[in-house]
Amino acid sequence: MSGAISKAPKNTAGVTDKFGRHIRDLRISVADRCNFRCIYCMPKEIFGSDYQFLDRKELLTFEEIERLAKVFVNLGVKKIRLTGGEPLVRRNLERLVEKLAQIEGLDLTLTTNGSQLARKAEALKEAGLDRVTVSLDSMDNEVFKSMNDVGFPVEKVLAGIDEADRVGLNPIKINMVVKRGVNEQSILPMARYFKEKGHILRCIEYMDVGHSNGWKLEEVVSADEIVETINAEMPLEPMPPNYPGEVANRWKYKGEDTEVGVIASVTKPFCGGCTRARISAEGKLFTCLFATKGQDLRQLLREGATDDELTQAVSGNWRQRDDRYSEIRSSETKDLPKVEMSYIGG
Ligand code: GTP
Ligand code: 5AD
Ligand code: SF4
Ligand code: SF4
Repeated sequence: MSGAISKAPKNTAGVTDKFGRHIRDLRISVADRCNFRCIYCMPKEIFGSDYQFLDRKELLTFEEIERLAKVFVNLGVKKIRLTGGEPLVRRNLERLVEKLAQIEGLDLTLTTNGSQLARKAEALKEAGLDRVTVSLDSMDNEVFKSMNDVGFPVEKVLAGIDEADRVGLNPIKINMVVKRGVNEQSILPMARYFKEKGHILRCIEYMDVGHSNGWKLEEVVSADEIVETINAEMPLEPMPPNYPGEVANRWKYKGEDTEVGVIASVTKPFCGGCTRARISAEGKLFTCLFATKGQDLRQLLREGATDDELTQAVSGNWRQRDDRYSEIRSSETKDLPKVEMSYIGG
C-alpha cells in the first residue's frame, strides 16, 4: 500500500451517475456522538445513556480520512465539509484539518453546533479551515434550550460565532431548522440579528431523516412561508445560485449586501443537481442523505487496497447511483429505514 496518491485512472475524474451528476461535494462525518440532543435529530428517548455509539477503533483514523479525501478529490470533489454528530467532539480535529488543508484547490469547511467554537476557532483557522457553518435554532434561550434538550444557552453559541468571525472563518453561515409549533416565532429575531451581524442565515425545512424524530408533514414550515415572513418586515430580492445544484435558495436584503437563504428539501427538492457524497465516521460511503446502506470503504482501506482500487470502487458505486429521495418523498417513504442524520452528518 503506497502512502502517495496514484494518479486517477483515465475517465474517472469526470465520473457521473445514472442521471449525469458528478461528485463535487464530500461530507465527512468524523464522530457519531454529539453533546446536544436536538429534538429533530437525536431525541433523548432514543439517544439515551444505553445508545450504542461507535467504538473508537471503528472510527476512521485521520490518516484513513486523508487517503479517502485524496481519492475523492481525484474524482472531482471541490469541497469537503467535516460533520458529525458534532465534529468538534473529535479530539485534535485541527490535526485532520491541517492534513486536508494541504490538498490544493479545496473549499474546506465544517458544520458545528458551535458549543466549543469559542475555544477552537483559532486553532481551526490556523490549521487551514476556510469557513464554518453553525447550527442555531433560536435567539430565545427557552426555545433553544428546549430544542437542543441539554439546556445549552444561546449566548455561548453566539460567542463561538463571534470568535469564528474574529479569526476569519468567513463567510459564516447559520443553519436554523424550523419546526412548526416549536420555533417559527424565532425566524424574525434570528433574521434581524444575523442581518445586523452580516452572517448568512439559512432556514431549513424540517426533514424526515432517520427514523427516530417522529417527523410529520404538518410540522414542516415551508420555505415560501419563511421567505414571506422575513420579506414582510425586511424586503428581500432573489439572488442566483453560487453553483449549480446549490442546496440553499439565496435571497438578499434589499439595499444591503447581507444574504439569507432557505433550504427547501421537502417542498422544492434539489436532487436533480445533487453532487454530494457522504462518508460516515466508520468509513461507509452513502450516496444519499436518505440512503439505507453504505459502501464499506474502511474494510477496503484496512485490507490494504491501493489508491487505484479505492478509486475504482468509489467510481463504480457512483456510476450506479440513482438516488432522488426528496423528489419521491411520500407518506410511504417516510417510514422506510434510513440512516440517522447524526450518523451521516446532515
Ligand atoms: P455551502 O457550501 O455553504 O453552500 O453548504 P451546504 O448548504 O451544502 O451545507 P450545509 O451542511 O450547511 O447544508 C445545510 C443543510 O441542508 C444540511 O444540514 C441539510 O439539512 C440540508 N442538506 C444538505 N445537503 C442535502 C442533501 O443532499 N439533501 C437534502 N435533502 N438535504 C440536504
Ligand atoms: N431536518 C432538517 N435539518 C436537520 N438537521 C438535523 N436534523 C435535521 C432535520 N430533521 C440539520 C442541523 C444541522 C445540519 C447538520 O443538519 O440543524 O444544521
Ligand atoms: Fe447534534 Fe447537530 Fe444533531 Fe443537534 S442537529 S443533535 S447539534 S448533530
Ligand atoms: Fe441528494 Fe438524496 Fe438529498 Fe436528493 S435526497 S438532494 S439525492 S442527498
